[in-house]
Amino acid sequence: MSSSEITLSCRQLWKVYGDEALKRFDTRALPEAAERVDEVATSVSAAGGIVACGDINLDIKRGEFFVLMGLSGSGKSTLMRCMSRLTEPTAGQLTLDGKDFLSASTRQLRDIRRTKMGMVFQHFGLFPHMSVLDNVAFPLRVQNIPEKDRLDKAREMIQLVGLEGREDAFPDQLSGGQKQRVGIARSLAVDPELWFLDEPFSALDPLIRWQMQSELLRLQTRFKKTIVFVTHDFMEAVRLADRIAIMKDGRVVQIGTPEEIVLAPADAYVAEFVKEAPRTRIIKVKQLMEAVSPKDTSAAGLTGEGVTTDMTLEEALSWSAGRGQSLPVHDSEGRTVGVITPERLASVLNSQQLGQ
Ligand SMILES: Nc1ncnc2c1ncn2[C@@H]1O[C@H](COP(=O)(O)OP(=O)(O)OP(=O)(O)O)[C@@H](O)[C@H]1O
Ligand SMILES: [Mg+2]
Repeated sequence: MSSSEITLSCRQLWKVYGDEALKRFDTRALPEAAERVDEVATSVSAAGGIVACGDINLDIKRGEFFVLMGLSGSGKSTLMRCMSRLTEPTAGQLTLDGKDFLSASTRQLRDIRRTKMGMVFQHFGLFPHMSVLDNVAFPLRVQNIPEKDRLDKAREMIQLVGLEGREDAFPDQLSGGQKQRVGIARSLAVDPELWFLDEPFSALDPLIRWQMQSELLRLQTRFKKTIVFVTHDFMEAVRLADRIAIMKDGRVVQIGTPEEIVLAPADAYVAEFVKEAPRTRIIKVKQLMEAVSPKDTSAAGLTGEGVTTDMTLEEALSWSAGRGQSLPVHDSEGRTVGVITPERLASVLNSQQLGQ
């Protein structure tokens, strides 16, 4: 990955809470403690503190939808707050667009937040005495954008999140889902390049949640922002993410695409989440196929119609329904690049049914 493709990068990043614990440790030595995170966590907790993030290393690519997933208390919000510098990390490095972000001055930080970064939190944080329109236009007022321009922009954002007609309502006249849309519109009004969303949909009921996820995906297709999204819902992570970092006890235990994680969970903790996931809807044909070189294909009788590498197994199954034979796999240019055997398909289906 070239450095220009990376928006945000964490290296040996730590966040330790607890004044007593912090007094007892030389925090400058933490970055060297990569192999001893458990040991440090035990000593910190013996001193009444907690390692909320221990030795975090990750790169978030430009335009990527990056999800932090893990159980409650695993350190997701702390890591996101460190990434946006709402919380100061105890040790480690943070780079934004190739520059040291931890040394940014208060003024630089304010400018970056106003122009580059957006944040949406679980608890909406709307101003109760302001209308929907004024709430959405607020960050533009802070930027001293003339009134007409900011109201035009706010109306456009309100339309984008499907709230037109409710511009004059006040937050307490709105449902939870509508308030969350206002929060999203407000944060989009500044057109952030890097967008942090901490469990923005967790207060919503399943149907609205699904709709909001769809809207977010639609926005992402249109604007291609870099998104860091926190959730403790694995299926939400799978639906939204380009890549997922799975956190446990302040550590990242696995980073990968949804398919990589579902196919090869790093440990029992990850496997427990994966158990719930409908594999056939996540795994793509290219991950299950046996690759073949062009000269093998005719020998194996693999000419003719087939499935494509980027189909999900579910799509491939419905395509192949009842054929019970090996299916040729084509790439986007129509070349035959592999084969899916009924045995391989069956192995995924069986493990799904057994919940393995
Ligand atoms: N300001 C703080 N002071 C002390 N401990 C804190 C503070 N903020 C978080 N923690 C602790 O750090 C750990 C990680 O918390 P964090 O809020 O990052 O978890 P999370 O994964 O976001 O959980 P949730 O899904 O419940 O929001 C928890 O044990 C929490 O109690
Ligand atoms: Mg949290």
